[in-house]
Amino acid sequence: ASAKLRSFNMTTVSMGEVDQAFIQSIEHRANLDNIEIEGIPLIDLSLSHTTDINLLVSEIGNACKNWGFFQVINHGVPWKLLEKIKVAAKAFFDQPVEEKRKVKRDEVNAMGYHESEHTKNVRDWKEVFDFLIKDPSFLPASPETEDDEIRTLSNQWPETPPQFREVCQTYAREVEKLGYKLLELISLSLGLPSNRLNGYFEDHTTMMRLNHYPPCPCPELALGVGRHKDAGALTIVAQDDVGGLQVRRKSDDVWVPVKPTPNALVINVGDTIQVWSNEAYESMEHRVVVNSERERFSIPVFFFPSHYVMVKPLEELVNEGNPPKYKPYNFGKFFVARNRSDYKKLEVQNIQI
Ligand code: SIN
Ligand code: FE2
Repeated sequence: ASAKLRSFNMTTVSMGEVDQAFIQSIEHRANLDNIEIEGIPLIDLSLSHTTDINLLVSEIGNACKNWGFFQVINHGVPWKLLEKIKVAAKAFFDQPVEEKRKVKRDEVNAMGYHESEHTKNVRDWKEVFDFLIKDPSFLPASPETEDDEIRTLSNQWPETPPQFREVCQTYAREVEKLGYKLLELISLSLGLPSNRLNGYFEDHTTMMRLNHYPPCPCPELALGVGRHKDAGALTIVAQDDVGGLQVRRKSDDVWVPVKPTPNALVINVGDTIQVWSNEAYESMEHRVVVNSERERFSIPVFFFPSHYVMVKPLEELVNEGNPPKYKPYNFGKFFVARNRSDYKKLEVQNIQI
């Protein structure tokens, strides 16, 4: 099977020589049997407009506590825009690789197209396009981050497909609104005022990513994304109908598929909320399984706080009986180090990335 992988050659997508770099060690390979198991919670956000807000808040709290993952419907992001962003992603990745490389991402300064990603030193079977949803050149200087590298980051936009930038930015604006709404619901679910977390996002460094997972000849050996946790506060993911995202279930470590659900968005708690909540909520491991027949597209938006924020357990949530489990760290420093190719070596306090 590994010979098959090595000789594989994509026509529209060149991911370089397909080789050993993609092969997962045995214990991390996907079980491709299609077993139906209990899925992550599906939460209807239209309840936030009714008197049932407390019910909604407790559903969100339970989902964060038990899974770290849930899906939402009636989330306010227009259906048409969800369609448009998926079309835009396909149109971008369908282009010849030479075209995509015109906006090649470099590890230090520029966002853009990236054809080779690694998770835990194994190459992922995918290609990506990244941008920061707030123009980084408008971010204020940080008193905490001496070299302020985050402000030297820049976005790059391709000239084709037409409307690509506009669709990406319109979609990002809508998802940003949903992000704030979710932060409020999560604050309430922790017993805090609804706006308790908003201040950490005034100059947020939120990144949006388009993911393309081409069909893979050996889905039993490679993964679209290897197991990992998200570092930010929240992630909001749009996915198509192919499926492949899996979450490690807290109660028994089983990999549970996140079932594609029409018009739903997938939400997950990242390391930053784990720290703020002093582990009341946990950032759960997840991964993406690929398949040999269909390509898959997904569009995550990673909500990152302002670069100057010192992340630490919230004072209201710690006491003598529940002392802080993390030391404060500067989010900007963490982000910059993480963005670099050497980030795999970095460890921020107890947070391993
Ligand atoms: C990720 O977790 O990085 C990707 C999510 C997805 O493709 O569904
Ligand atoms: Fe992730």
